[in-house]
Amino acid sequence: MNIVVITGADRGCGQALVRYFIEGGWRVYAGQFMPEWKELEQLKEEFGSDLILMPLDVSDDASVKAAAEFVGAREENIDMLVNVAGIAGGAEDNADAWKQVFQVNVLGPLRMTEAFLALLRRGKKRICVYSSEAGSITTQPREDGFVYSMSKTAVNMEMRLMFNRLRREGFTFRIYHPGWVRSYMSGVRSREGVYEPEESSASAYLQFVTDRPCEDVLLMMDVKGEIWPF
Ligand SMILES: NC(=O)c1ccc[n+]([C@@H]2O[C@H](COP(=O)([O-])OP(=O)(O)OC[C@H]3O[C@@H](n4cnc5c(N)ncnc54)[C@H](OP(=O)(O)O)[C@@H]3O)[C@@H](O)[C@H]2O)c1
Repeated sequence: MNIVVITGADRGCGQALVRYFIEGGWRVYAGQFMPEWKELEQLKEEFGSDLILMPLDVSDDASVKAAAEFVGAREENIDMLVNVAGIAGGAEDNADAWKQVFQVNVLGPLRMTEAFLALLRRGKKRICVYSSEAGSITTQPREDGFVYSMSKTAVNMEMRLMFNRLRREGFTFRIYHPGWVRSYMSGVRSREGVYEPEESSASAYLQFVTDRPCEDVLLMMDVKGEIWPF
């Protein structure tokens, strides 16, 4: 059975992804950041032992280490790490708020990769991250939203460096732009957007589990399967 670890699984894209992986026959370790939000536990009732919940705050070293130990105590390896957790951030003149955006969106995937690397090395070696068109430099039309956009540019570079370091060991990578999703990034379920989380995550799931003819080029692909410059 293939095994995946998914961050930010409480709601939005991450939760929708949990369902696709389980229905695809994977065992899922789902990072639970919001224990007060009960939907993951309802999924657990539906899926039983194929879904294992674990507390996970990707901005916290101790939490990430504890999650890696939790999985390592139960599994010889994992096959895939999917970094979904992300925040939009609040006021950009609030230094604590923008530092937290970088803690979650940028250092979160880095922490997770470092902590789970030994388990990943013994599995199928795929690392995925939810990025955004907001991080693309060459085609960027925005005039504000500095911190979030900069965080997504940074996570793209992070994936590039990981690709350079780990590709020769057989690791493969997916950088995914989910489109404009009616999720919870503003704190409440958005009425605006183009895609439901389930629609966007259906595409993500297929892109994450499908091998490409050539894995030696790092690409950012969107929900429609189109390549974004980054
Ligand atoms: N929605 C869009 O239109 C869109 C577009 C482009 C890219 N993205 C990216 O797609 C990814 C998924 O976003 P989404 O739309 O599904 O948003 P979402 O509905 O807010 O889901 C993200 C989940 O991550 C959680 N989270 C926040 N901080 C965390 C932490 N420190 N550790 C672990 N989990 C944490 C969130 O909890 P809280 O709700 O408590 O924060 C939430 O449950 C993000 O990386 C986002 O940047 C989204």
